[in-house]
Amino acid sequence: VKIYKVMSCFSQMEELQKENVYIKDAERVEKLLCQLIQDGKSKLQIITDFDMTLSRFSINGKRCATCHNVLENSSLVPESKKQVLDELRDTYYPIEINAKMTIEEKIPFMMEWYTKGTGVLVECGLKQSDLSLAVKESNALMRDGCDWQFSTLHEHKVPMLIFSAGIGDILEEIIKQHSQMYANMRVVSNYMDFNHDGMLVGFKGDLVHTYNKNEGALRNSDYFTTLKDRRNIILMGDSMGDLRMADGVPNMQHILKIGFLNDNIEERLEKYKEAYDIVLVSDSTMDVPNAILKKIL
Ligand code: C5P
Ligand code: MG
Repeated sequence: VKIYKVMSCFSQMEELQKENVYIKDAERVEKLLCQLIQDGKSKLQIITDFDMTLSRFSINGKRCATCHNVLENSSLVPESKKQVLDELRDTYYPIEINAKMTIEEKIPFMMEWYTKGTGVLVECGLKQSDLSLAVKESNALMRDGCDWQFSTLHEHKVPMLIFSAGIGDILEEIIKQHSQMYANMRVVSNYMDFNHDGMLVGFKGDLVHTYNKNEGALRNSDYFTTLKDRRNIILMGDSMGDLRMADGVPNMQHILKIGFLNDNIEERLEKYKEAYDIVLVSDSTMDVPNAILKKIL
């Protein structure tokens, strides 16, 4: 009975039948889903990106803020610095989403973008006490269904790693304002370093950018070691760099990769279909991951 229930779940899941859902290898996904359902929640862990994966890409045709944009667009940053940051984005974001360049070709440019960008932010005299208001005044939003997902994963004690090339302090504040930070969540990101007056003086630790998450994953392998019995992973991301977030997981058995394709869609769809098991095009919700979680939990 269990096998029957499991084998038919794919076709029963109406969320997977929608037009914006692309699955290159349906047989593999069917098998993976079966396995994840059979193994259940005690074997599961979630590894997810933040910007444009947990957070929303756009609303009513307008881009939503990334962690970095929350600061760049706020009144905390003087106009002259805004201009510099805008120019950086106009130069480097097209490289980030370029469909023809390889990850290795993109890495030096991402390093440049992040180094210059964080340098400019430090020059702005930002204060820790201003961050909450900057988030409130921004249009950073979570995808519909994140709140349900977070509380449900917490309730079922499924660990969630949020691995972000954004800004840790900002992403935590976005989550707090739109949902809640729970004890089962762990964040690996770029955290701000404040002096005793609460003034931003730099960033802590090694820089995480969009395409070096593999290195970060290996640096955080202690985290994965404590979860060594959780051999099944659901990975969510919106960038080709996010596929490397699980590189530090020992004894991984099954990994289901769900990719949100938000921008430069036609050019990148084929690559995303190759790399991610399930590709969700221009989807502002967590409907598909949540439907899968409902089957597993
Ligand atoms: O991969 P992840 O979503 O964690 O990367 C952070 C996001 O922040 C990327 O989507 C990137 O476009 C964005 N970003 C930005 N401004 C910067 C640096 C990164 O909006 N200065
Ligand atoms: Mg992202």
